[in-house]
Amino acid sequence: MLTKLLFLLSLGFISLYAEIDIYKEGEILYSQKGCNGCHGIHGEGMHEYPVIMNKPKWYLVKKMKFYRGKKGVMNQTAQLMIPFAENLNDDEISYLTHFLSLYKEDLNAPRYDIEFESWGDGGS
Ligand code: HEC
Repeated sequence: MLTKLLFLLSLGFISLYAEIDIYKEGEILYSQKGCNGCHGIHGEGMHEYPVIMNKPKWYLVKKMKFYRGKKGVMNQTAQLMIPFAENLNDDEISYLTHFLSLYKEDLNAPRYDIEFESWGDGGS
């Protein structure tokens, strides 16, 4: 009886957990909020945009809250982050940073097509 109960309980936990896949949520937010525009689709950074993936979660959370709070000494580069951080709630920051800290390239993900058609885009 007890084992049956435990089994049912654990099933409940599994389905609860499956409902929010935090990593997936973070991944969705990452492109939905436009982070990839500056930090790259793999969080690999570019020029003055720092690498943000595979850094410790506590560090990423601290930085996101720093930008969101708009308090403290911030140079002009850092101010670029304010509009992208100020509307995030704690859950969103948690999902995003979970995703970034554990980031692994998904080899099955669709790739951008590097070939492009040159016709029909000039409007001439
Ligand atoms: C307009 C370009 C831009 C966009 C869009 C952007 N960022 Fe940034 N981000 C920056 C710049 C520039 C910095 C460096 C700021 C500094 O010097 O502190 C930065 C820094 C960071 C850092 C700190 C990295 C470190 O190692 O200190 C994190 C984390 C971060 N961004 C996450 C995000 C997330 C998550 C999003 C999407 C919600 C996002 N960024 C969108 C430009 C951008």
